[in-house]
Amino acid sequence: MDIQEAVRKRKSVRDYLNTSLSGELKEQVQQIINEKVPVPFGNKPRFSLIENQSLKSGEAVKIGTYGYIKGAKYFIAGAVERKPMADFDYGYALETIILKLTTLGLGTCWLGGTLRRKDFAGPLGLAPDEYIPAITPVGIPAANERFFVKIQKLRVNPHKRKEFETLFFYNQPGILLEKEKTGRYEQALEMLRLSPSADNFQPWRAVFDSKGIFHFYLKRSKIMRTVIKTADLQLIDLGIALSHFDLTLKENGIAGTWEQTSGEAPLASGLEYVVSWKPVF
Ligand SMILES: Cc1cc2nc3c(=O)[nH]c(=O)nc-3n(C[C@H](O)[C@H](O)[C@H](O)COP(=O)(O)O)c2cc1C
Repeated sequence: MDIQEAVRKRKSVRDYLNTSLSGELKEQVQQIINEKVPVPFGNKPRFSLIENQSLKSGEAVKIGTYGYIKGAKYFIAGAVERKPMADFDYGYALETIILKLTTLGLGTCWLGGTLRRKDFAGPLGLAPDEYIPAITPVGIPAANERFFVKIQKLRVNPHKRKEFETLFFYNQPGILLEKEKTGRYEQALEMLRLSPSADNFQPWRAVFDSKGIFHFYLKRSKIMRTVIKTADLQLIDLGIALSHFDLTLKENGIAGTWEQTSGEAPLASGLEYVVSWKPVF
């Protein structure tokens, strides 16, 4: 897969053609879901392709997603055991799947807020120690968006991302990282910057230190955790962003490891340290 092309092509699709996927396409989707994605913290998120009729009857799409999604016949829902960094690994894994689906021309939309999780628990066979961090519809994008969706988009401005200078620092939070100093990491940082996030809040920040290590943080919006309690949506956001970073590095032949080394990471108020990436030479 060409990661950079997929990252640039992906956008949230909320209006779908109300048609079934061809047998061949469905098979491809199934294969993508079945491939285990290696994740940084070793959690084991699992995913299922759920056809809409297996949700409760009635206006089925409305039931699962409060009307935010129209026409979707299929969802990819997943579950993971409640363990440290489960939301991060879930974000990393489902975004990897989403990027692969994007290369097939399929539309998706991360849903962590506007979904009724209990509607997906039965079809997923949710175990007592598991929860559903987020889901996505999957299908052929409709040609036109509803007026309702256009209005929603005005609120979050989904195509806009924060500038490089706001997100990435050198040696200490707040100190500008010059793009020219990032060398072989420039593309990976740009792919991170283009990541989707809940409410397009873009809570990720990074410090690149003089030893060549990247330290990643969350700049949290408190409201997010108050509204959605089942999952830590901003930790999912970071998992998504770092899948873009990691997959781009891998595609560019750059190896590294993920570690939580809070002693080495420079700290700053308002930033929550999460994880570091160290190059392996
Ligand atoms: C973890 C997560 C949760 C999200 N939850 C929702 C949601 O509940 N409803 C929704 O309509 N969009 C949701 N989104 C989509 C974001 O609003 C969208 O990704 C962001 O505005 C950027 O737009 P883009 O995906 O088109 O690039 C979510 C995105 C992420 C990453």
